[in-house]
Amino acid sequence: MWDKLKAHHEAVATRRIESLFEADDTRAEAFSVEALSMRFDFSKTNIDAAGLGLLIELLDETGVAARREAMFTGEPINETEGRAVLHTALRNLDGGPVHVAGTDVMPGVHEGLSRMEAFAADVRSGAFRGAGGAITDVINIGIGGSDLGPAMGYRALSPYADGPRCHFVSNVDPGDIAEVLRTCDPKTTLVIVASKTFTTIETMTNARTAKAWMSEAVDEPARQFAALSSATDKTGAFGIAEDRVFGFEDWVGGRYSMWGPIGLSLMIAIGPEAFRAFLRGGQAMDRHFRAAEWSENMPALLALTGLWHNQICGYATRAVLPYDNRLGRLPAYLQQLEMESNGKRVSMDGHALTQDSGPVVWGEPGTNGQHAFYQLIHQGTRVVPCEFMIAAEGHEPELHHQHQLLIANCLAQSEALMKGRSLDEAREKVADKFEGDELERQAAHRVFPGNRPSVTLAYPKLTPEMLGQIVALYEHRVFVEGAVLGINSYDQWGVELGKELATALQPIVEGKEDATGKDGSTAALVTFLKANGA
Ligand code: F6P
Repeated sequence: MWDKLKAHHEAVATRRIESLFEADDTRAEAFSVEALSMRFDFSKTNIDAAGLGLLIELLDETGVAARREAMFTGEPINETEGRAVLHTALRNLDGGPVHVAGTDVMPGVHEGLSRMEAFAADVRSGAFRGAGGAITDVINIGIGGSDLGPAMGYRALSPYADGPRCHFVSNVDPGDIAEVLRTCDPKTTLVIVASKTFTTIETMTNARTAKAWMSEAVDEPARQFAALSSATDKTGAFGIAEDRVFGFEDWVGGRYSMWGPIGLSLMIAIGPEAFRAFLRGGQAMDRHFRAAEWSENMPALLALTGLWHNQICGYATRAVLPYDNRLGRLPAYLQQLEMESNGKRVSMDGHALTQDSGPVVWGEPGTNGQHAFYQLIHQGTRVVPCEFMIAAEGHEPELHHQHQLLIANCLAQSEALMKGRSLDEAREKVADKFEGDELERQAAHRVFPGNRPSVTLAYPKLTPEMLGQIVALYEHRVFVEGAVLGINSYDQWGVELGKELATALQPIVEGKEDATGKDGSTAALVTFLKANGA
């Protein structure tokens, strides 16, 4: 099927996307899907009916439906770690039982959620107090999946945040935690240590720093700490009492974990009810993904556009461009979700991949990006498929006209990418200012090649439920891309080597060991940094 798809691409590669609209006035409808009040439009790509047919065959050929069922029913599809992949169980609020190795995990999920809700309600109401009174600030200390989800969600749902302020500390760079501690009062701060493994060096280092900070002002600092972890055997050693430890099972991957205890800071900020709405959104997307035909299945179609652009057309990167400023952290969140999941060089059976792995994912909210990197997207020599996101309505009714301007900008960009501007049109633009060779030269700079693909996700408004739908949509997109490529999307061995080498380098940086055995560059950099104060 890959060969057929590549041959098809070769046959249509020079065709202009615009011509597809000229040939078929139903194209916008035929290459869009609406589900759960969202609209996903992939008509501004070079995918035609034959190409879509082949892509859908690829899903069948690679057994995606069976693997999807295996995921939802708790089979150990994370094969290198022998684990089930069941973040969907965390939002299976009114669904049936879900078994892992014969045991229904749902009673545990419900109990865990209830415990989180009770604690969040106590923090919000002031029933849970710090040494100096009701909690005013929550600091979530975590990194990767233990940071990006709640941090992204807190920013996305700021209009719903009516609880204590939340802060997110992730980097081992002392500048990160120092900036946050400076703005908080230890007597009214709750510190949440979020780490699936409870061993991550950055998180444990920051947690100890926070504890020392709190100890200076509070007699029982550990009382103002909570822990979110799968390693509940380790949280006690840090001094966190069991009633403030929120555990989760190993079948929740770090980058898929914001639906459970890792979402505690978000729940405290927006309240348990709004958090449940977020879960409901995720569950609604699960149901859609599990039931809809491939031709109507939003996550599958989003995945197929990704596979078409990356593996078939060879476009190495993908820009995520939310025209929704509150989704400002979504590109970073998706970077981990997609690149840690599908950035693998071997397939499940350990053999080298026959296709490229997942793409480089990057992005920034529009309109800001327009004034920064869109130049390259429009006129650079490489094609960057763009994924636009836009809400019909903002949260500021009094500034509705400003939101309309945002929408106009979003739609203008995908139109400009597709249409471009020809040399004739460019000449016309500047014909009144230049002539002769200078006209030619100036016009050349104003040509936009166009024919650059994009997809657009439009939705009514960024509510908690909608955020749940969006995050689950992308999770399932990653699942489908990984399944088609034969990748285990649920391990992350590629982060290990750097961690090991950092551990080995620390005593060298501290001056306790010399750099013998290190390569010349590393040794020289250590020497330079030590000579300058390290
Ligand atoms: O090093 C990568 C990673 O394991 C991510 O997968 C994970 O989200 C992050 O580190 C944090 O891990 P933990 O929650 O165990 O501290």
